[in-house]
Amino acid sequence: MRHFLNLFAQESEFLAEILQTAKLMKSPGLPKPYETLRNRIIALIFEKPSLRTRVSFEAAVTHLGGRSLFISGNEVGLGTRESICDFARTMSQYVDGLVMRVFKQHTVEETSKFATIPVINGLSDLSHPCQVMGDFLTIQELFGDIKGKSIVFVGDGNNVSRSLAVGCAKLGLEFTLVCPEGYGFDATFAKQYQEMFERPIPPELRNPDSALPRADIIYTDVWTSMGQEAEQEHRLKAFRSYQVNDSLLKKAPKHVQIFHCLPAHREEEITHTCFEKFADTIFQQAGNRLHAQKAILHCLFAKK
Ligand code: CP
Ligand code: NVA
Repeated sequence: MRHFLNLFAQESEFLAEILQTAKLMKSPGLPKPYETLRNRIIALIFEKPSLRTRVSFEAAVTHLGGRSLFISGNEVGLGTRESICDFARTMSQYVDGLVMRVFKQHTVEETSKFATIPVINGLSDLSHPCQVMGDFLTIQELFGDIKGKSIVFVGDGNNVSRSLAVGCAKLGLEFTLVCPEGYGFDATFAKQYQEMFERPIPPELRNPDSALPRADIIYTDVWTSMGQEAEQEHRLKAFRSYQVNDSLLKKAPKHVQIFHCLPAHREEEITHTCFEKFADTIFQQAGNRLHAQKAILHCLFAKK
């Protein structure tokens, strides 16, 4: 049985299989619908708010013939009202899979140790693996192939950029993080990356100018992630000159695309103008959450 908690733990071949499956599932004229989750229940346990992840997972489960069940993290009280190991063992009696959005990566890792059903990470403080599978699917659609493409992430060394960095290394894309000092990847992550890929993590840049001329994708995300609200004022100041705007866009090739995982804070990490110029791409990216997650669910459950 497999879990989907962190891209470090996934083999490149499995990630490629997910992308291939998503492409197939999306193609028109499928001979018959996939029914991988027929008679199966997938529970979503979310400690933080969500629009895309929740709705696209619930839709994905329905498309695959299953049923979803949403429970707010407050109700469960993971690690407070109920220990994680008791939660995991209880849920394994009732449902066939778990999608979890959590404050701490540790919560999904710990759940997976005790659950007898697949556990999927729907975002934690450290990673957002389902997001980036949708992003890679979008790159595949826009560029025909993902290999060798260059993503320049302008923003925080957060859950999304970390998963992108790992996914890029696994699937053969180039990744550059452009961020203010003190907001890059931490030493533990850099060490994990070095151990896995036997090369250092690409150096972070303070200024995007050297990376932009070869960028295929400029990617941004909020400056203050969920759970960091107390740092918001400080972060607004630190990231002020790291906005995706027209002057940055001018330094990139004509074919460049702008990605945003959403939700977006216009006039903070991205201008309204830039957002709207690339709205078709950004909502294709949002739409692909559904297709990528159907493929993740299929690849986890078809072989179970
Ligand atoms: N991108 C993303 O995960 O969106 P939600 O927080 O709305 O799920
Ligand atoms: N980095 C953002 C991503 C939201 C999808 C956050 O964690 O809030």
